[in-house]
Parts: sequence; C-alpha cells; structure tokens
Amino acid sequence: MKKFLKWTGITLGSLVGLLLIAGIVIYFGTEARLTKKYEIGVKPFTLYSDSNTVAAGRQLGNGVAVCTHCHGDDLGGKVVIDAPVGFVAAPNITSGEGSVVRDFKDSDWVRVLHHGVAPDGRPLVIMPAEDYQNLSIEEINSLVSWVKSMPPVNRPSQPSSFTMLGRVLFAFGVLPKLPAEVIDHNVPIPPTAVPGVNPTYGHHLALTAGCVGCHGPTFSGGQIPGTPPDWPAAANISQDTKTGIGSWSEADFIRALREGMRPDGRTLDTLMPWKNTRLMKDDDLRALYLFLKTIPAKPFGGR
Ligand code: HEC
Ligand code: HEC
Repeated sequence: MKKFLKWTGITLGSLVGLLLIAGIVIYFGTEARLTKKYEIGVKPFTLYSDSNTVAAGRQLGNGVAVCTHCHGDDLGGKVVIDAPVGFVAAPNITSGEGSVVRDFKDSDWVRVLHHGVAPDGRPLVIMPAEDYQNLSIEEINSLVSWVKSMPPVNRPSQPSSFTMLGRVLFAFGVLPKLPAEVIDHNVPIPPTAVPGVNPTYGHHLALTAGCVGCHGPTFSGGQIPGTPPDWPAAANISQDTKTGIGSWSEADFIRALREGMRPDGRTLDTLMPWKNTRLMKDDDLRALYLFLKTIPAKPFGGR
C-alpha cells in the first residue's frame, strides 16, 4: 500500500511538474509572439482631406470596412471579446482623451491598416489588417479623413489580456494567428480599385469587407476560426443551390445584406454585419452579387 501511494505520489508530482513546465513554455512562447517588434518601413504619406474624401471614408468605414462594427458607432472603443480565452477591446480611435491615435503620424495609419502593426512595432490582435491590405492608398486616405472628422470621445482604451486557456489555444493554432503573422509585409499597396457594377470590383469589396475573412476563401462557410463553438457558423455563400446562395436572385441577396433577412424569412444573426452592409451603396451590393455568381458551388463548411 505504502509503495503504491509512493508511486502515485511520484506520478502525480511528475505530472504537475510537466504541466508547470508546459505552462511556462506556452506562456513565454505566446508572450514572445504578442510582444514581437515588427520593423515595417512605410513610405511617407501625407493625408489630404476635403468633404468628398470624408464622405467616401464614412461610407467605406461604416458599410464596407466596418470599423464601427468593432470600434463602436462613435469610434470611441468597444469590447470585442470578453470570454474564457481573454479580453480584447477595440480602442478609442477618435481625437479624444483615452484615444490611442493622438500621436499618430499619417504613415502610422498605413502601418496599422496594411500591416496590423502599431507604431511601436507591436502586432495588433483581431484588427483585420489582412483584409485591409487590399485597400488602395486613396481608400486609406478617405478612411482616415473620416476617422479624423469624427467628434472626440473621451473614453479610456482598455488593454487586451489573455487567460492561460487563451494562450494554450493560441499556441496550438485553435485561435487564429495574428494578422501581422500571416500578412506578407512586402506586398506593395494595391492600385486604386475602380468602382463599377462588375465582378472585379465585387471581388475587391469581398476582400476589404471581410466576406472572405468570415465565409472563407472558397466562400463555403463554416465555424469562423477563433469564435466560440456556440457562435453561429458563417453561411455557405458559394453558388451551391442546396446550402449556398446559388438560387438567390439579386433582390434576395440585397435584402439579406440590407435587412438581415433570408429569402425564407429567417433573420440573420448580427455576427453577420448586416447592420453595416446595409449602408453599402446599391451598386456595391450589385457588384458583390455579380462576383459571388462567379464562385463555384461547394458543399457547406469547407471554408
Ligand atoms: C474585427 C474588429 C475590428 C475591425 C473591423 C476594425 N478594428 Fe481596429 N482594432 C481592433 C482591435 C481589437 C484593436 C486593438 C488591437 C490591439 O491592441 O492588439 C484595434 C486597433 C486599431 C487601432 C490602434 C492601433 C494601435 O496603435 O494601438 C487603429 C488605429 C484601428 N484599429 C483602426 C481601425 C480602422 C480605421 C478600422 C476600419 C478600417 C478598424 N480599425 C477596423 C478591432 C477591429
Ligand atoms: C464577421 C463575420 C462575417 C462577415 C465579415 C461577413 N459575414 Fe456573412 N455571415 C456571417 C455569419 C455568421 C452568417 C450566418 C448568420 C446566421 O446563421 O444567422 C452569415 C450569413 C450571410 C448570408 C446569408 C446566407 C444564408 O444562406 O443564410 C449572406 C448572403 C452573407 N453572409 C454574405 C456576406 C457578404 C457578401 C459579406 C461581405 C460583404 C459578409 N457576408 C461578411 C458572418 C460574416
């Protein structure tokens, strides 16, 4: 009996020791990724602003790039994740007190939006720069002119923190990598996208509006990486006629993105940012529809 207890003790002790070591390795491994300094050379860029660029930016930032979905309608910051994996808030990006952008140089906006990297070289969490890497310099200029035109909001920005569970899931790739880790930082800024009711512009919108980020590169949908299992999966928006939108008319599609309602009358969860996409221009929605018409049918869930 004594021997048995001794061996149980040794086994348990070793297990606890191993877990402790694994915990330390995971903690420092994830900390190294979260605090890595990215040296990003950004070409000097000087903003220009007039009422047209502000209006274009407002349209883009609300309806397409959905900045307000995470940073809040007043851009004063909003909690994005408060879950067992940790706490992440999109910061205040107005000119008010508690904002993180008050010392931004114009080129810092390009670093944040195209590279997912803060001016001090820190990689940003969740901020979807892999989608925004597709924005042209004109689009960035409009977005920033609009952000700067917003009334100052005095609200502290809350720092992110991760629990051990969050770190384990991040280390094992269950939570997605950081945008700065997946972006090719050498890709040049894309040329101006010419608006039009055609699949090419629709493709540009699908990238910058994050449709690809949530519905997946093949648009067949599935659980969005990093979201808790009880959150709704992204729908299949490939041309599959059974689980996808292959039989949807243009009017059906526009109604879904404007009113959050499917052709069968069921409403869409607000994880699908239809409260933002409803602000897209008619022509933009039509371009998206035409682009999605070119997407081959795929069964649900392959992403
Ligand atoms: C999916 C949610 C999401 C969307 C959409 C989003 N952001 Fe963010 N953004 C965040 C989060 C979260 C952070 C904080 C990241 C961190 O500190 O690690 C952030 C950080 C920032 C920062 C601060 C960077 C710094 O130096 O600390 C700026 C500026 C910013 N976002 C601008 C924008 C703009 C402009 C848009 C729209 C084009 C946008 N964001 C869209 C989630 C989002
Ligand atoms: C933040 C993630 C996210 C983004 C960004 C997003 N979607 Fe969705 N979408 C979803 C989710 C989740 C659902 C399923 C909602 C539900 O089950 O109620 C959905 C549902 C849909 C549907 C309904 C399909 C059906 O059969 O029910 C359409 C259409 C759609 N999205 C198109 C788009 C388009 C086009 C874009 C880009 C402009 C886009 N989505 C961007 C998450 C997203």
